[in-house]
Amino acid sequence: MIIAIDGPAAAGKGTLAKRIAAALGLPYLDTGILYRATAKRVLEAGADPADTKAALAAAQSLGKADLARTDLRDAATSRAASQVASIPEVRQALLDFQRHFGNSHGAVLDGRDIGTIIFPHADVKLFVTASVEARAERRYKECLARGEPVALVEVIADVQARDEADRTRAAAPLMKAPDAELIDTTHMNADEAFAYALARIRALTTHAAG
Ligand code: CDP
Repeated sequence: MIIAIDGPAAAGKGTLAKRIAAALGLPYLDTGILYRATAKRVLEAGADPADTKAALAAAQSLGKADLARTDLRDAATSRAASQVASIPEVRQALLDFQRHFGNSHGAVLDGRDIGTIIFPHADVKLFVTASVEARAERRYKECLARGEPVALVEVIADVQARDEADRTRAAAPLMKAPDAELIDTTHMNADEAFAYALARIRALTTHAAG
């Protein structure tokens, strides 16, 4: 079973996807980590995240240790991740890993193009979103909890800029697959979003089986 969860920045996809994976006994892959780890390598090499050669070399050299890093969620890495993610060669280099991960034992994957490009025939596709204010506020609280000094206005600007870049890029732009179920979590907390999404997944898969 493949469950694809896409959506804009800080929509709570990760939290939701992790809980769904645990509830259904499926492996979970946060595909954003691939772009973040690529970006981090480029930044640490002192290279430009918009440089195709540097970004491709970084994507091709990713190992387990890169994906296990816990310092990939800061604002600079997020911005650079969006930049490397707009490079078709980088996306191509990361495609097999994602497909292989999902095809091995089934999986819940979250990202931007899971339901459109990586697994267009996923059993369930969810497009999780929320108002930009709600998303920025959640990301702001996450930053504060990690001890990162940020201002809410900056987080709002970052989230908006990244969404705009992700939506308008030519390569695998952020968009809802026509057959994805839209879940707007603006007025839901994490528990409510999880309960709602799980109920929808059960309804969609029962319907498909019967
Ligand atoms: O957690 P958040 O929603 O802020 O971001 P993320 O899912 O970790 O993704 C970071 C960046 O990687 C995004 O802004 C996208 O540009 C890129 N990304 C992508 O292009 N395709 C994916 N499947 C996942 C992430």
